[in-house]
This record gives sequence, C-alpha cells and structure tokens, in this order.
Amino acid sequence: MVALTINGESKTVDAPPDMPLLWVLRDILGMTGTKFGCGIAQCGACTVHLDGKPVRSCLLPVNAIGNRAITTIEGVGATPTGAKVQKAWLDLEVIQCGYCQSGQIMSAAALLEGTPHPDDADIDAAIAAVLAETGIASAKQMGQVMNGVKAKLAGARVDGKALSEKVRARLQ
Ligand code: FES
Repeated sequence: MVALTINGESKTVDAPPDMPLLWVLRDILGMTGTKFGCGIAQCGACTVHLDGKPVRSCLLPVNAIGNRAITTIEGVGATPTGAKVQKAWLDLEVIQCGYCQSGQIMSAAALLEGTPHPDDADIDAAIAAVLAETGIASAKQMGQVMNGVKAKLAGARVDGKALSEKVRARLQ
C-alpha cells in the first residue's frame, strides 16, 4: 500500500511500488485528466505538480513521491494561479483537440507560480517541450496566452475576444 496526498486529499492505494504515478492516477484512482502521450518523459502530456513543481508522471515511480503533495489537472483550479490559467485558457479559446491541454495548463501554472512575471525565454523553457512533442498550437499562440495570464495575475482587465482575434490573425 502507498499513501499519497492528491489535491489535498489523503489516499492509500494498492499499487506496486515501482508503478508510475500516471497509472496510479488513471487506472487505480480513475483520475483520467492526466494524459498518456509518449511514456518516456518527453511530451509533457502527463505533467502533474509535486509540491508545486512540474513533473512528468509517466516515469515517476509512486514510491519515490514520499510525502510531497500531488496536484493534478483535477485540482489545479483550486489554486489561485491555476484558476487564472484555466480562465485565460477559456477566454483565449486555446482548446483544440484537448488531449494535451492538461499538460500545458499544469506547465503554465507551475511556471507562473514560481515566476510571476516570466519573460519569453522563461515561457519557451516551460512550454516548448510540451508544444514540440504534442504538435499543438504554436509558440506564438502560447505567448499570447501567457501574456493574457500575466495580465490577469497583475489584476489588469483582459479582453479575451480581442486577444483571440490577434492569435488567429498571427496564425493565418
Ligand atoms: S507521457 Fe509523460 S512525458 Fe509524455
């Protein structure tokens, strides 16, 4: 048995100690918001937070987690930064097929939690791997999203529709 804290709740799971966290979440706990993509810690689709830091759950043995707090896409909206990122995602109509959204949102929320005012290099470092491997959106679109999130974090009013139009124009 392995004891875990997931989205603020204590759970005890009957899992092999070397089972990757991703499969504990999806197959044992039925938390399917965290996605499987490559399975080799490259694409970012399986990103969750451990004590607020982004990690790839597909290769993380569950017995290596210890007492660190796990946050998944199902729980990140309960954090102030996660809620703002999710709102910006909707305002800017980022969602495409949706498969990699959870990994992207988790990566963006972790970035903004640790770096409230990221520059372009920070954004590239945090998001580029997810973008590159999943083939979704573009660095330009992600830059627009992150600018929207930054403005929200600063308390500024964001015109999501106007930003969305700009994104579309830049992608055409
Ligand atoms: S599924 Fe974990 S990084 Fe791709």
